Amino acid sequence: MKKIIDLIAEELAEAFEKAGYDKAYAKVTLSNRPDLCEYQCNGAMAGAKSYRKAPIMIAEDVVALLKDSRCLSEVSTVKPGFINMKLKEEYVAEYLNQMEASEDLGLEKTKNPEMIIVDYGGPNVAKPLHVGHLRSAIIGESVKRISRKMGHKVLGDIHLGDWGYQMGLIITELKERKPELPYFDDAFEGECPSEAPFTIGELEEIYPTASAKAKEDEAYRENALHATYLLQNGHKGYTAIWNHIMNVSVSDLKKNYANLNVDFDLWKGESDAQAYIPDMIERLKQDGYAHVDQGALVIDVQEETDTKEIPPCMIQKSDGASLYGTTDLATLVQREEDFHPDRVIYVVDKRQELHFVQVFRAAKKTGIVSEKTNLKFLGFGTMNGKDGKPFKTREGGVMRLENLIAEINEEMYRKIDENRTVEEAEAKETARIVGMAAIKYGDLSNQASKDYVFDVDRFTSFEGNTGPYILYTIVRIKSILNKYQAAGHSLEGLPVAGAQSESEKALMLEAVKYNEVMENAFEELAPHKICAYIYDLANAFNRFYHETKILAEEDETKQKSYIALLKVTKEVLESCIDVLGFEAPERM
Ligand code: ARG
Repeated sequence: MKKIIDLIAEELAEAFEKAGYDKAYAKVTLSNRPDLCEYQCNGAMAGAKSYRKAPIMIAEDVVALLKDSRCLSEVSTVKPGFINMKLKEEYVAEYLNQMEASEDLGLEKTKNPEMIIVDYGGPNVAKPLHVGHLRSAIIGESVKRISRKMGHKVLGDIHLGDWGYQMGLIITELKERKPELPYFDDAFEGECPSEAPFTIGELEEIYPTASAKAKEDEAYRENALHATYLLQNGHKGYTAIWNHIMNVSVSDLKKNYANLNVDFDLWKGESDAQAYIPDMIERLKQDGYAHVDQGALVIDVQEETDTKEIPPCMIQKSDGASLYGTTDLATLVQREEDFHPDRVIYVVDKRQELHFVQVFRAAKKTGIVSEKTNLKFLGFGTMNGKDGKPFKTREGGVMRLENLIAEINEEMYRKIDENRTVEEAEAKETARIVGMAAIKYGDLSNQASKDYVFDVDRFTSFEGNTGPYILYTIVRIKSILNKYQAAGHSLEGLPVAGAQSESEKALMLEAVKYNEVMENAFEELAPHKICAYIYDLANAFNRFYHETKILAEEDETKQKSYIALLKVTKEVLESCIDVLGFEAPERM
């Protein structure tokens, strides 16, 4: 379906042309004076110069031709040359009926579907997930869903940090604790055990212990570095341990991400890129892109127009080891081979921006990806505590993701339990669903690049701009629709009729924006635009609800129209929260 704003613009364009003006001036925007009108056009002011005419005269010429408009009920001019418009009640109603009858509420999907990879999550295997990884998962999941909704072919890739020093640390600590294991016996020829020599719980304790020891003890650190080196060069026993670490961690990660309603198509990691590195480096050397600088192999990425220094992208250290940037470049080689993406979106902490500037420039300069490939860094800010500092536990440690979720769910349960009418088990499950919305909406309603304060009290509130408020609104609509059905009516095929009141029209005008909001959120990769929209929509609904008898309405046609309007409103809200990555319970 065409966006309603485009339909209005089309009519205006006809009028501009008929009146002898360029239709390019017929741009329509939402009104910034909602007290006066619903939509407006400022084109007369823009055209005044080229036509050497007062803008108000142009506006009047155009308006004179809109007397029998298909979609406008009121068109007027306001000095110096605004064209103010209101939509016909029936036109808006008909638009809603068409939304209801169309697939995906009439969303106008992209005409040029792209192959998009979203690189998000990025947890480091064997280190516990912490809140820093929460933002990446929440924002990335939403960006993936929005892109998919717009008709693109999208793959989400977790890009595990599974090839670093942490692996050497774990191997070293394990060797100290259980030197008798066959992995450490170079003469061992048999099959290594299929059972991992640790549980996830032990693994989570081993890593911090080893990490602390390495900071104190130089020899221990050397051992860990050497173990990392051996692993990266194919040591048999260490590779077997690495596989155990991967199996144990990945199944735990899968559980954690499933709890967040986050789901990856690809479970690739840094380790998967390693096989591509030798050939890539060889080629970069041969083609003269990489040169040796103080013993290290680097690619220059400084550009003439830069106002500050952009250091070269380092791809090999003097000891032959590869780096973070090498892995990201090799991952692009791999992605190019497997999927040939049009766009790769990296959802990563904004403090890593320079790294990505270097990688993107190096990838384009060396032809790893084509000049056309859209490499996009979507950097996010820090999640802070109420004290304005990075979020910590009460004891001052890094908050683990699981604990954070548990804390929100508890608070949610406490609030739901205050006037609980359902069984405890159902209330617990509802708290979990609403808790997820509280966390995700609390994050996504902020522009991603900004820091924000994680405020449990505010996020779990049923009032204000929060996830629970949005869900509460959906549940309220569901309950009315259920009661209507329980009274023996069907929800199918009910037509929305022209609005009877100001609040009803206001609700309709919000609902019809769905199409353009979704498109705009994709274009700007901005889930917060969807949050802002559903907050307005929920407010419009609640105002209508408080001013209108719905179930008690005696005029059947009127009531049917109300119910139909509620149904579309609910569907729009549900579609929006779905791309934000959460859902609504049946009741709460
Ligand atoms: N594992 C990294 C970290 O924790 C994030 C990975 C981001 N993605 C990437 N392609 N570099 O900082």
